[in-house]
Amino acid sequence: MAKLEIVLEGDPRLRQKATRVKHVDDSLRRIAADMHETMDAAPGVGLAGPQIGLMRRIVVVHVPKDEEEDQEEVRLTLIDPEIVKAHGKVYGQEGCLSIPRWVGDVPRAETVTVKAIDLDSKHIRLKASGFLARVIQHEVDHLDGILFVDRVEDRSTLFEVTEEELSKDEYATIAE
Ligand code: NI
Repeated sequence: MAKLEIVLEGDPRLRQKATRVKHVDDSLRRIAADMHETMDAAPGVGLAGPQIGLMRRIVVVHVPKDEEEDQEEVRLTLIDPEIVKAHGKVYGQEGCLSIPRWVGDVPRAETVTVKAIDLDSKHIRLKASGFLARVIQHEVDHLDGILFVDRVEDRSTLFEVTEEELSKDEYATIAE
């Protein structure tokens, strides 16, 4: 496994549409493992192919357990993910590993149903709500060249976290 370099805002690859994978092979499985390692080390809760310069439709997600929010720990690799259903609208704070230190309020669907294939090329379908639904929508956006700052409706909610706040680690849990 290897930690990969994360592509930062300004790089044109973050603005391109990634292409479908269709067939999962060992090389993609190795990249997926590297993506999980890179996301965990960052640390972050999600990472999409274009963020490591890979223009394929693959995302990894790791949402930690949160008892207050009734959220179980979830770790996912989604290939060719498609959001097939979306309900509701909720605002929540997001950050992005490709736009370090910036956070803002982003509206997202409250629940989504996502179709994808897994690392064994098996078709999967899952329903997500709350923070997990938010992370999945953020990552799928990356595959279409969309960044969370594009979705911020009220620009006054967008701000740069100070080094001191960053060291408290409270914003590490929303970088994706
Ligand atoms: Ni991001």
